[in-house]
Order: sequence, then C-alpha cells, then structure tokens
Amino acid sequence: MLQGKKIILGISGSIAAYKTPELVRQLVKSGAEVKIICTPAATHFVSPLALSTVSKNTVLHNISDGDSWHNHVMLSRWADVMLIAPCSANTLAKLANGICDNLLCAVYLSAICPIIIAPAMDEDMWQHPSTKANLQKVATYGNHLIPVAHGELASGLVGEGRMANPTDIVQHLHRFFQAQTQQLLTGQKAIVTAGPTYEKLDPVRFIGNYSTGKMGIALAEALAQQGATVSLILGPTHLRPTHPGIKTILVESADEMYLATIQEFDSCNIAILSAAVADYKPAHMATEKIKKADDTLVLSLQKNKDILAHLGTIKKPNQILVGFALETQNEIANAQLKLKKKNADYIILNSLRQAGAGFGTDTNQVSILAANGHITQLPLQAKTDIAKQIIAHITTPQLP
Ligand code: CTP
Repeated sequence: MLQGKKIILGISGSIAAYKTPELVRQLVKSGAEVKIICTPAATHFVSPLALSTVSKNTVLHNISDGDSWHNHVMLSRWADVMLIAPCSANTLAKLANGICDNLLCAVYLSAICPIIIAPAMDEDMWQHPSTKANLQKVATYGNHLIPVAHGELASGLVGEGRMANPTDIVQHLHRFFQAQTQQLLTGQKAIVTAGPTYEKLDPVRFIGNYSTGKMGIALAEALAQQGATVSLILGPTHLRPTHPGIKTILVESADEMYLATIQEFDSCNIAILSAAVADYKPAHMATEKIKKADDTLVLSLQKNKDILAHLGTIKKPNQILVGFALETQNEIANAQLKLKKKNADYIILNSLRQAGAGFGTDTNQVSILAANGHITQLPLQAKTDIAKQIIAHITTPQLP
C-alpha cells in the first residue's frame, strides 16, 4: 500500500522524536519515499544525520539555508500525505492557530495533501484544556489524528500521551491509503437512521430533540464512498447527504422511522441506527391546537417502538447491526447493557463530557463497543473521519 507513496514527515520537539529513525526505516522498507522536516527543537532530540541516512534524503529544518530558500508550497504539492510525528503540544498549538514560524508549520499551512498527526506529550499537557481545544480545532480542519498510547512517559509518570509506536503509525498509513483506493463495500446494502424524530402534540407543536443528523449523514456518506448502496432514513433536519449513491427517505415521527426501517432491513447487510428517536410520543394527538387554559398542563405519553431492539430480534447472522448510545453516567456499563439488551453487534458510545462532541458539532468523540467485549476508543476528530473509522472498524473487526 505504501509502495511509491511520497510522504513528508514533520518532526517536532518531543522526546518521542528519538523513535523517528525507526519510523522512517519502516516507511522506506514499505516502499515509500520520505522527505523529512524537523522543527529547530526536534534536532535536539534526534540527529538529522541519522534521519538523512535512513531516508536517503536531506533533512530540512530551516526556511532557508544560506542564500537558498526551501519552497514550502512545492514541497507540500510533492507529497501524497504529510505525517507530523511526533506532534508536540507547542507544534499542535501552532497548527491549530495558523502560526507559521518554522518550515514545518509553513509546509503544513500551505499543504493541499491530507495531514496525519501523531501527538506526543506528557499526560498533564495532554489533559490540559488548551491542548483539548487545539486537538478539536485541527480535527475540524479535516486533519487525521492517530490516538496517543498509554504507558511510561518522559516525566517518569505513567499515563496517556505517548506517541503511537512506529509500527502502529505505519499500519495507520496503510489503512489510510487502502481506504482511499478501495471500495470495500461494493455490492453491499446499508441502511442508516439519522436525525431527530418529532412527535406531534397538536397541528402546530411537537416533542423533539436537538439532533441535527450530522453524524448519521456522515456515516451514510462514508458507506456510499466505500461502494455500498445506502438508504438513509432521515428525521426532520435541514441537512441532506450529497453522495448520489444514497437514497434518502424523509420521515418525521418514530412510528414513520420504524416502518421505513423495517421495510429496508430485510435486504440489507449493514444497519446503523444513529437517530435520536424520541422514546415517548403523546398518547393522543389533538386534532385542533391545544388552547391555553389551566396553570399546569399534564401530557400523557406512550412509549415508542424501539427500532434497534426490534431489529435485534429479527437480524440474520450475516447482518451487522449497530446502535448508538448517549450516556451521562456509568457510560461504558450502560452502553454494554444496551448492546446486550438490544442484541446489537456494536454500540457507538457518544461522549457528552468531551467538549466538541455531541449534537450539532462538527467533531465527535466515540468509543466502539463490540459484542465480543472489545472496546475501541477513537480520538476527538471530525464527524466525517469518525464515520470512516466506524465503517472500517465494523466491516473489518480484526483491526485494532
Ligand atoms: N433507538 C431506536 N428506537 C427507539 C429508541 C432508540 O432505534 N425508539 C436506538 C437509537 O437510534 C440508538 C439506540 O437505540 O441507536 C440507543 O438509544 P437510546 O435512546 O440512547 O437508548 P434507550 O434504549 O432509549 O435508553 P435510554 O434512553 O433509557 O438511555
């Protein structure tokens, strides 16, 4: 997958930079051509001589050398991908805010190729709200993030913040290029439910929720990009998918969503239920507008049919059934209960605690819980990237 790929490796000033000669060795061994840019601080942690030896290319670290200027625009045009590994807290802050005081940042800012970032820092820096905000910003720019690892840190403490090891980074690049070139779901049919539902109280009022359908639409797009024929069953939202391979069925209430989903389910291979379905509907819909009368108004509500739970009772062994869970306490335990109770193959647990995740945002942070007990946490990133990773994960469960 990496044969002939042109990779710019940007290395910033983190102790994890000492692992980069091994990373370069593995990339070159896989057939990639690697050009390296170090920030000035990176050169304190790793020798440019070692890097130029393994990459067989001159290592760049200044915007100009003597009277020659490095053309950062053409450098980024040369590359199929720019990998920034390790990305220190300082460089992350610069990438997030468009600061351009070294060659690595200049190439990043002018890059038209995809960017993959592998952060590395001590846990306290990793947990700082400004780092979280910067991660969220770079994710919304469409950059891809490689999750940090847990383990021994430069401070001597043990925690989160280690750069992913070189083998995992190379694996990530393999998957990245594979996803770009292959349509793994050609011939498959998928259904996605998305958006809120509106439960009518009277001709002018309803019970609804803040869901915009962004995550579900991103999932439908990601499935279609992989070649699947997709039916998107979409509750009331102004957003629409753009991929021509998606058939959109507009519904309003949970009952309508239930009927449309059942109709599409029998012939599908993958069903992802991401809609924020109202759990209850008014027991009676008033045919005329409810007039203001007493100081209090008691509404009688009746439980809606649980679409996911119903599909869990009729699904066939060759169908992949995926639900979502939005929890505010005992998140993992509650999501695991939901997984079992509804007989799903996967539950995507949405984080409400993480800034930048949830209804209406462009980013999200989720964990994927599998029926076999395996839990995979994805880093905060654009919903479009989360969608691609969810699809890759549920269709190739052997990947970590
Ligand atoms: N869901 C559904 N039909 C419903 C309610 C929920 O298909 N009537 C699906 C959602 O689309 C989601 C999953 O079930 O994939 C979890 O929904 P959620 O509302 O979080 O779970 P509930 O089982 O309703 O539990 P609770 O609201 O008590 O957490």
